[in-house]
Amino acid sequence: MSRPIFEARDLSVTFNVGRGRNRSQVQALKNVSLDVNEGEIVGLVGESGSGKSTLARAAIGLQKQSSGELFYAGQTLPMARTLEDRRKMQMIFQDPYSSLDPRMSVKQAIFELLDTHNILPKEKRLDRCKELLSLVKLPESLLDSRPYAMSGGQRQRVAIARALSLNPHFLIADEAVSALDVSVQASIINLLSDLRDSLKLSILFISHDLAIVRLLCDRVNVINLGEIVESSPTLPLFDNPQHAYTRQLISSVPKLDAIVRNTN
Ligand SMILES: Nc1ncnc2c1ncn2[C@@H]1O[C@H](COP(=O)(O)OP(=O)(O)O)[C@@H](O)[C@H]1O
Ligand SMILES: [Mg+2]
Repeated sequence: MSRPIFEARDLSVTFNVGRGRNRSQVQALKNVSLDVNEGEIVGLVGESGSGKSTLARAAIGLQKQSSGELFYAGQTLPMARTLEDRRKMQMIFQDPYSSLDPRMSVKQAIFELLDTHNILPKEKRLDRCKELLSLVKLPESLLDSRPYAMSGGQRQRVAIARALSLNPHFLIADEAVSALDVSVQASIINLLSDLRDSLKLSILFISHDLAIVRLLCDRVNVINLGEIVESSPTLPLFDNPQHAYTRQLISSVPKLDAIVRNTN
């Protein structure tokens, strides 16, 4: 039995919105508990506004929780993260433009992170960049390219390479393939799956797209209005969904079977 690398226990996040008489609260997460074991890819799926990104932001310390606890390898994660806490959990976003500085080449973007974390002597950085590009199956010729000169899929591979540069054990992918064409989505899904095997990575894979979650994840958590309504290994979830909301999500994806047939 593998150990949990990441756990959220009874996590709640409340936002204050509006001013004066219009002031109110949005409970973005309500007592959310989930875990990701070593080497596992766990899905978090739900409609837009269901609280997925809030969970991701709380996990990496960008969003304060109102209550509940987060753990990494059994240790409590405090709100104020150390550099080492930040190194071991990396995030990949929907739009690589938000994680890649448009002025920086691939090489510069990776050097910057390596230098911030001070984990490699300067003379070893270039070799490490080449190794990372090969890991994400990009040619070395892209080392000096800037984000605008690359395709969406290439940019997302660079964002993944950059995230991997610090040897994290845990990745959070928040809608990481949602902005890509279907064929490119499939190739990034395959890459994440390969990386899980070769690097023994654990991944929390966040998506509104059930078809993709079904292809990639070992287990799935379904979130609706800030609450996990169903949590199950992937196959039983699709074969025999227990919660009405899960059934509704599955039935509202007409292209699901077609996509699974095409990519399997
Ligand atoms: N900074 C914020 N201030 C106020 N409300 C927020 C903020 N961030 C998110 N929310 C609200 O919290 C809920 C969950 O949002 P989010 O986590 O972004 O959902 P998802 O990623 O599933 O689309 C939504 O109702 C959203 O409007
Ligand atoms: Mg989101």
